Amino acid sequence: MAVNWGVLGVASIGVRAVMPAIQRARNARLVAVASRTAARAREAADALGIPRAHGSYEALLEDPEIDAVYIPLPNTLHRAWTLRCAAAGKHVLCEKPLSVSAADCEEMIAGCRQHGVVLMEAFMYRFHPRTERVLQLIGAGDLGEIQLVRAAFTFQAREPRTNIRFRPDLGGGALYDVGCYAVNIARAVLGEPQEVFAYGRVGRYGVDEVVGGLLRFETGRLAAIDCSLTVPRREEYEVVGSEGRLVVPHAFLPGAADAEIHLTRGAERTVITLPGADQYQRMVEHFGDAVSGGPLSLPPTDAVGNLRVLAALHTSLRTGAPEAVAR
Ligand SMILES: NC(=O)c1ccc[n+]([C@@H]2O[C@H](COP(=O)([O-])OP(=O)(O)OC[C@H]3O[C@@H](n4cnc5c(N)ncnc54)[C@H](OP(=O)(O)O)[C@@H]3O)[C@@H](O)[C@H]2O)c1
Repeated sequence: MAVNWGVLGVASIGVRAVMPAIQRARNARLVAVASRTAARAREAADALGIPRAHGSYEALLEDPEIDAVYIPLPNTLHRAWTLRCAAAGKHVLCEKPLSVSAADCEEMIAGCRQHGVVLMEAFMYRFHPRTERVLQLIGAGDLGEIQLVRAAFTFQAREPRTNIRFRPDLGGGALYDVGCYAVNIARAVLGEPQEVFAYGRVGRYGVDEVVGGLLRFETGRLAAIDCSLTVPRREEYEVVGSEGRLVVPHAFLPGAADAEIHLTRGAERTVITLPGADQYQRMVEHFGDAVSGGPLSLPPTDAVGNLRVLAALHTSLRTGAPEAVAR
């Protein structure tokens, strides 16, 4: 069964990646796009060949043909629009971070459950076959006992004066924007951390622009993460176990290129190469299957855990002291 999709907002990520992915997906139809500005919606619809353009988000929610909504709005708007979609009976694929607090996420989960709709955070890298392979290798014990994860996502965001990433009131900052990936892979490998510590720099726009953080897990296992909106592009992670280690280059945005895992065990070095894949399309297809009754491999409760860690990192950044992660 094909899921009929609508999109709230003509966001850069929607236009560049997710709307075309919905159009390519085997179980999806992109039916409508909405903007706060009717002409902007029309322009996007014409450019992408989308049948309907709505001049407000409300109008899209009233569109009876739409089953599922993709939300690429600024982070502080995720909660309210997810709840409104749920109340309108629409399934929700919402951008990362799912919201700006664990409490928001819990409210979103409850609202979607109440209205019987599926909710998922659009963490597309989790749907790349390479990420699945990494987690399999670790789960199978190929690296021995995991002791350390190191994860980084930095880039130089453009046009800070108009970029939502530099707006504290819209949930800007490096931790929310890209630190969420580093925290997510650390938790996927090591589980929930107990305590964190962060150093960083808050810039002139009032958001964290560079952050380095340490996450302490049970039995002293560690993750070291860094993220930035101003440091040149790096996105990779390393997982170190008692028997070996792996490094994943271009970890979160590998594009369509072949994707590598660099594995080292003793003197033996191997590069595992997986064929390129469209992680956005795979995410959309997985979500569509879940709407049709299939399992959801990334439940929204995972976002609650991620936001608890991000909140502790924000607090530590402010206080200069270690911070326990809420349970
Ligand atoms: N998964 C990924 O690969 C990825 C990559 C980048 C970003 N993201 C996430 O996607 C979301 C959007 O990021 P983006 O960079 O694509 O944002 P963007 O280009 O700035 O677009 C955000 C859209 O939200 C709408 N909007 C509604 N209220 C707004 C307000 N008060 N201020 C600004 N925009 C408002 C606007 O659409 P209209 O004017 O048309 O209504 C705007 O085009 C964020 O949650 C971000 O974390 C994910």
